[in-house]
Amino acid sequence: MKHIDIKEITSSADFVGKEVTVCGWVRTSRNSKSVAFVELNDGTSLKNIQVVVEKGESDYKEPRVGTSVKVTGNVVAGRNNTVEINTVPENITVLGECPTDYPLQKKGHTLEFLRSMPHLRGRTNTFNAVWRVRSVLAAAIHEYFQKNNYVYINTPLITGSDCEGAGEMFTVTTNGFTQDYKTEEEYYANDFFGRKAGLSVSGQLEGEMAAMAMGKIYTFGPSFRAENSNTPKHLAEFWHIEPEVAFMELDDVIGLAEDMLKYVIRKLLDTCPDEVAFFDAHFEKGLKDRLEELISHEFGRVTYTEAIKLLKESGENFVYPVEWGCDLQTEHERYISEKVFGKAVFVTDYPKEIKSFYMKQNPDGKTVAAVDLLVPGVGEIIGGSEREYDYDKLVAAMKERNMNLDLYSDYLDLRKYGSVPHGGFGLGFERLIMYTTGMANIRDVILFPRTVGSIR
Ligand code: 4AD
Repeated sequence: MKHIDIKEITSSADFVGKEVTVCGWVRTSRNSKSVAFVELNDGTSLKNIQVVVEKGESDYKEPRVGTSVKVTGNVVAGRNNTVEINTVPENITVLGECPTDYPLQKKGHTLEFLRSMPHLRGRTNTFNAVWRVRSVLAAAIHEYFQKNNYVYINTPLITGSDCEGAGEMFTVTTNGFTQDYKTEEEYYANDFFGRKAGLSVSGQLEGEMAAMAMGKIYTFGPSFRAENSNTPKHLAEFWHIEPEVAFMELDDVIGLAEDMLKYVIRKLLDTCPDEVAFFDAHFEKGLKDRLEELISHEFGRVTYTEAIKLLKESGENFVYPVEWGCDLQTEHERYISEKVFGKAVFVTDYPKEIKSFYMKQNPDGKTVAAVDLLVPGVGEIIGGSEREYDYDKLVAAMKERNMNLDLYSDYLDLRKYGSVPHGGFGLGFERLIMYTTGMANIRDVILFPRTVGSIR
């Protein structure tokens, strides 16, 4: 259907005086004696375009909110540097009527209410802005890595090995319910792959294999976690960006994470000023300044051991008690980034017991070269590490965790054939969107959220 994006018309004075055809959904509709006004949005911009209908003698049926229409008319300058389209009723074609039970008739619905209609909520300003920020940030992430000689790889979503070892893998099976099998092994041996398979929690292990050939790689795809945590920052299916780099040590991993985040946030501020202003006005006052500040200062750095000391000395009444060796909970992460540093902060060198088997063991014998990036408002958005590249140390760490080495033979081969220091991190894409928009619930930054007990 020949038409022009509303974004093109509203962002250039060149169209004034020209005839255009636009398509879109009616956001508001007002009718008066001789003229009528229709606000149209086609999703290409946060801005609507106003259509002024000169009714004359002709019949004019006011389109209801939600109706989809095609309009041909002349672009004229409106008030406050806006443009409008002047038309007559004959030049408005209704593409799809919208009955009165359309749930978005009125403005001002709560996010909870909108969550109950993921198929329609994209037609509100809030989700129009969120989906565009997602798209711009995704493109910026690819741009950053592509510019810096990284190779984009696609790791398998169905896997036989659990990367994080936290037992959070969804099982993939074609075997229905039956009492025929005596043991779990027998059940899986008769399954599609002839052994137990699941949805990958991370592309890291395969990413390491690619980095050992291509040097610098990144993935950008979905990861799946059967975490039974119904929180505002956990999804069962989230999008994961995982760079993996040969010849990179922990400091380099930290430098890469900071540089990449600053690049993509700069890009967002430059590309989406309307969306950032919208979130600043409606969701988090001061958002734009916070993002500007983030990219103009160095991120903080603290070791886990220092962080524990700070938390213990804080005098705060945490729900989860703090002891060296404990996992940092969101309340602890937020205290460190919000109260102590007031900015993004890298926490490094965690106890080996609470981190994954693949992390490089530090000389102290107690900690590993791990890093998490904590940001105010959200908590952890990045988790990464330098990897253990010594064959014997890696095998020892796996044995301590009672892991089945046979399942990881390819991974172990990397430590046999030209092993090199290397490292990488995982960035949770939805957590980045939360941080850059001020949206407080992860369910509101992905099209169709999958969480424990909820799928649509
Ligand atoms: O810290 P995680 O578990 O690290 C890994 O998966 C490593 N294999 C990454 C690597 O080194 N290549 O997860 C990385 C990030 C977290 O910091 C968080 O932002 C996000 O992934 N994440 C989730 N996001 C939404 N919902 C969940 N259930 C998430 N679990 C992790």
